[in-house]
Amino acid sequence: MGRPGRRWLLSCITGFAFAFLWLADPTTSPNNLQVLRKFAFQVSWTTKEILYRLDVGWPNRPEHFTGTTFCVAIDSLSGLVYVAQRGNNIPKVLVFTEDGYFLRSWNYTVDTPHGIFAASTLHEQSVWITDVGSVLGTPGKKGTGLTPLQFDNPAELYVDDTGDIYIVDGDGGLNNRLIKLSQDFMILWLHGERGTGPAKFNIPHSVTVDSAGRVWVADRGNKRIQVFDKDTGEWLGAWNNCFTEEGPSSVRFTPDGKYVIVAQLNLSRVLLVAAPPVGSIGNCSVINTIQLADQVLPHLLDVSGKTGAIYVAEIGAKQVQKYVPVEGYFPSFTHS
Ligand SMILES: *[C@@H]1O[C@H](CO)[C@@H](O)[C@H](O)[C@H]1NC(C)=O
Ligand SMILES: *[C@@H]1O[C@H](CO)[C@@H](O)[C@H](O)[C@H]1NC(C)=O
Ligand SMILES: *[C@@H]1O[C@H](CO)[C@@H](O)[C@H](O)[C@H]1NC(C)=O
Repeated sequence: MGRPGRRWLLSCITGFAFAFLWLADPTTSPNNLQVLRKFAFQVSWTTKEILYRLDVGWPNRPEHFTGTTFCVAIDSLSGLVYVAQRGNNIPKVLVFTEDGYFLRSWNYTVDTPHGIFAASTLHEQSVWITDVGSVLGTPGKKGTGLTPLQFDNPAELYVDDTGDIYIVDGDGGLNNRLIKLSQDFMILWLHGERGTGPAKFNIPHSVTVDSAGRVWVADRGNKRIQVFDKDTGEWLGAWNNCFTEEGPSSVRFTPDGKYVIVAQLNLSRVLLVAAPPVGSIGNCSVINTIQLADQVLPHLLDVSGKTGAIYVAEIGAKQVQKYVPVEGYFPSFTHS
């Protein structure tokens, strides 16, 4: 799909993020399996129902994980998995297929990646990366400004179907902001105050948008998820009750919209939370917990829109792992 060849679209926001337009070359898929790096991390579930299982065969060659794997993004249209990792003298972005084959790596223009998002349409593939290091081409200056826009430790972003961009800035830096930008980087609305009250933040770490037009923000330092109207920015509510032990570090929806998948970093835990219907968000209710081994440290995660598989970037274990829905529990997206 898409256009032939390889093109770059380099954007555009001072000191922070780039988009790459990149087309996969499937001919680079390796077929020479080598010895796998084995991780002896145990996984257990705290309830009897097992809704997801670890796919131990993903990826085929885990030795490609050579750094600290901060984030992962799924391009469900193309079946690609992008992993960004930090470290010296290593490629910063790794590209795998959802089947587990390693395709290629990128080094260019990425310094210290934090969050990643794949925003593909039928016409083009793009990947956004929030980068907390220096930035190629433009002065990578941290700041609080709005004109021009400046960031400090931007944690993650989300691009919706219309191309609008939601940014959480940031991860313990100068700013505690949720910003909505249009495709041409005009500010549509923002909440920019540090604090504990409604629409204030303390380390807004992850952001996603649901099909009901609500924006969900993992407000990690405040141990809650806050919810906003996508069009107006109006505050719709907060969930506190599921995160009393530790704040959420990542938030994503399953493709059927029924569950919110939340990572808790230091607890090494992934929660499956019931997603509220349109209207009041009510209280949060944990349906299932995937307890990872101690020190695995799930940082950010993404969910495949096609298969419902959860890919978790683990900064402690230095790998990305894939959890697939157990047949029968999620009829809308389990496949054989
Ligand atoms: C990226 O950098 C690493 C380490 O310097 C090197 O081994 C690798 O070939 C580079 N990859 C690309 C795609 O430039
Ligand atoms: C996790 O623990 C580290 C080290 O104790 C701490 O610096 C960090 O703030 C904790 N993160 C969260 C999300 O609680
Ligand atoms: C949420 O929980 C609180 C405290 O447990 C309770 O007072 C409140 O009525 C609940 N709200 C909803 C919408 O269920």
